[in-house]
Amino acid sequence: MALEIVEGAGRVDFASLIDLMRLEWPEDWGAASDERMLEVFEESSDPRFDVNKYLVADGRRVGWYRYTRWPRGSTTAETAHTLDIVLMCDHQGKGLGRMLMDDLISDCRDRGYRKLLSRTIEGNLKSNALHRSAGFRESFRNGSDIVWELSLVEIGAGA
Ligand SMILES: CC(C)(COP(=O)(O)OP(=O)(O)OC[C@H]1O[C@@H](n2cnc3c(N)ncnc32)[C@H](O)[C@@H]1OP(=O)(O)O)[C@@H](O)C(=O)NCCC(=O)NCCS
Repeated sequence: MALEIVEGAGRVDFASLIDLMRLEWPEDWGAASDERMLEVFEESSDPRFDVNKYLVADGRRVGWYRYTRWPRGSTTAETAHTLDIVLMCDHQGKGLGRMLMDDLISDCRDRGYRKLLSRTIEGNLKSNALHRSAGFRESFRNGSDIVWELSLVEIGAGA
């Protein structure tokens, strides 16, 4: 299987990602139509600051991540926030989530970000395990949400 991580250019065609979006949709948000899901993802998108990359296997998009500058109005690229990280079911549990997260982290570093934030839901054991494995530390909890933090500043780099 030929695997590559490819950056998306221009506006995201969310309709083409609906299967991945459905896998990320939190159960406690209830069932949603494709239209509702598209609306929510479109609203969360800001092409000025979002970075989208896809895991492509044999020409098919089997994974996706998206992160953005945080807060969006910030004038400096100090902090980034993950928005999505997801794999098709048949590609989960094989180390590819970690591969995507490692790419996301190094992409943030390359763009000069110094801190990466992320948010998961307490019950999402796979995602929580992924964050721990990639070096995030739990910052705080808000109800069933967990907010994670990762310093992107290399220790000993003099930054
Ligand atoms: C979250 C997700 C991207 C993780 O990707 P993945 O390919 O399944 O994870 P990996 O195989 O790379 O494993 C990453 C780490 O999590 C651990 N892990 C994976 N699944 C696990 C599980 N069910 N229980 C406990 N640990 C698990 C792995 O052992 C690994 O840890 P290690 O590096 O210390 O060995 C993927 O499961 C997914 O797409 N889930 C649905 C969408 C989603 O919930 N996205 C996150 C929204 S916040």
